[in-house]
Amino acid sequence: MNLIEVKDYEEMSERAARYIIEKVRQAKTLNLGLATGGTPVGTYKNLIADHKENGTSYQNVTTFNLDEYVGLSGDDRNSYRFYMNEELFSHIDVVQANTHIPRGDAPDMQQECLNYEKLIAEHGGIDLQLLGIGTNGHIGFNEPGTSFDSATHLVDLAESTREANARYFSSLAEVPTKAITMGIATIMKSKEILLLISGQSKREALSNLLHGEVNENFPASALRNHPCVTIIADNAAIGK
Ligand code: GLP
Repeated sequence: MNLIEVKDYEEMSERAARYIIEKVRQAKTLNLGLATGGTPVGTYKNLIADHKENGTSYQNVTTFNLDEYVGLSGDDRNSYRFYMNEELFSHIDVVQANTHIPRGDAPDMQQECLNYEKLIAEHGGIDLQLLGIGTNGHIGFNEPGTSFDSATHLVDLAESTREANARYFSSLAEVPTKAITMGIATIMKSKEILLLISGQSKREALSNLLHGEVNENFPASALRNHPCVTIIADNAAIGK
């Protein structure tokens, strides 16, 4: 794993955006895996600014998001589809039909898992996957204990994850209890991974990732076995 140390959230966001922009500009077509949460918001802001100022085009890009809450439709303000439209898609020239997010309101959620996994494979897999990390080491919504062999699947959200994400909802009770997420194996199939880690609350997670055991109790540790991972972490996360 290649660790890039940066000063703060702003610098992390700029570096991450530059990394992505370079890939988008170089590749004839690019399958880009995207993440939600607070961490990538600044990166998306930088992508939007660059699109407006420098005209980087996303017409050759197909996107696949990591996860979605079960029970929320795409027009629910708390869904990850809504987040992605607001934070990125509606501000760049990506073709809306080429943006893929698991459906949280599919009539058959088990089938939706299979369909999503198949969709990624049919497109030839993900070239670059952007990731954040939960304080308990979750990636996507793969909570501690998830098998490293997991494909896209349904999960019961850990209470700590629901609490961490409650800030987006009007109350904790409103936070869904289940989600659909790419599995660890799905993520590991990505050709390249860019993991962003910012803030003191992620310090222990970063330290576990760098120095702890590779173990299913800490989902992100699977990344240690991936041949091409870049971590961009800020001083607060590093502990400087
Ligand atoms: C959420 C998302 C993850 C995200 C993580 C960290 O639950 N499902 O994809 O990486 O938790 O979120 P944040 O960036 O807000 O700290």
